[in-house]
Amino acid sequence: MHIVAVINQKGGVGKTTTTVNVGAALARLGKRVLLLDLDPQANLSLHLDRRPELEESTMTQLLVEDRPLAELVRPTMTPGLFVVAADTSLGGVEQVLANRIGRETILREALDAYPAEQRFDYVFIDCPPSLGVLSANALCAANEVLVPMQTEYFSLQGMAKLTEVIQLVKRRLNPAVEIGCVLPCMVDLRTRLTGEVLDNIAKYFGERLARTLIRNNVKLAEAPSFGATIFDHAPDSNGAADYWDFACEFLLRHGEKIDTGVLAAARTAASSTAASRAASSRSAEAPVVTAPRKAASGDREAPPPAPASAEGAAAAGED
Ligand SMILES: Nc1ncnc2c1ncn2[C@@H]1O[C@H](COP(=O)(O)OP(=O)(O)OP(=O)(O)O)[C@@H](O)[C@H]1O
Ligand SMILES: [Mg+2]
Repeated sequence: MHIVAVINQKGGVGKTTTTVNVGAALARLGKRVLLLDLDPQANLSLHLDRRPELEESTMTQLLVEDRPLAELVRPTMTPGLFVVAADTSLGGVEQVLANRIGRETILREALDAYPAEQRFDYVFIDCPPSLGVLSANALCAANEVLVPMQTEYFSLQGMAKLTEVIQLVKRRLNPAVEIGCVLPCMVDLRTRLTGEVLDNIAKYFGERLARTLIRNNVKLAEAPSFGATIFDHAPDSNGAADYWDFACEFLLRHGEKIDTGVLAAARTAASSTAASRAASSRSAEAPVVTAPRKAASGDREAPPPAPASAEGAAAAGED
């Protein structure tokens, strides 16, 4: 199992959105994927339509009561995509574990003990916006770190701290952990600042800066209120296109080949399922959501990797 901690101690940078949609894209491409909600805000669980207050099996049971991981894994609406949910009780876990020896390695032990015959190809851990015991558990369990980041002036601030914590964990607890990839999220290609910040991130992270950029896209912001991934909510949006691109880049970075036939079939399946669902439920009750600013511009047929600079600004913007 390849384990990825999705982490950035800065809040609201796209960690949960990335965890849900990269996980869903990989599952739609035939991978077996597990998402772990390690954030007491439980945004990942809500995004996947698992209401935390109704869950009896959450990350708290794993971390505090030592329940085996296999008992807590639940399916999602996306075949091949599984989740262990969180609820607000996770917020008290740091205190409960404060005096427990080996508290940083509980999650790693749980993943190590997971039955071989049910193993996942990829596990993504959605971390809270802090660097406490929960994030330490993620870093101790992970093979790599995926850092979603906004292209704002202060974005690199805080990266020094995160890098330092990762190095400390690497030295003391988990020699395997590395920063695998830094993913710019909510990118507005129309501004010059975006290009400048991307240049700075590239200087700092080099090849680890993703070639894909996740553009600012209102459909990505709407999807959680429907309890749906972007591929269920708006499969023809720029948000879906960008996460397909990043899922492909992620697979390539992990030495996997992209079967273009499988990719095309997965994208077509997402579009046609959403279209038929929309047709059959036009009169159904829908949550209140922000109206898109303009109509969807349509999907790019064979999306090239997004430019890693401010060039291509004309292609920027929301759906
Ligand atoms: N590319 C995007 N375009 C527009 N909105 C986005 C995009 N990505 C995420 N959002 C929205 O921005 C908000 C923050 O995103 P998200 O919850 O993924 O961040 P986070 O890093 O997990 O936050 P937290 O630190 O609180 O856990 C959410 O409302 C989400 O729907
Ligand atoms: Mg989050």
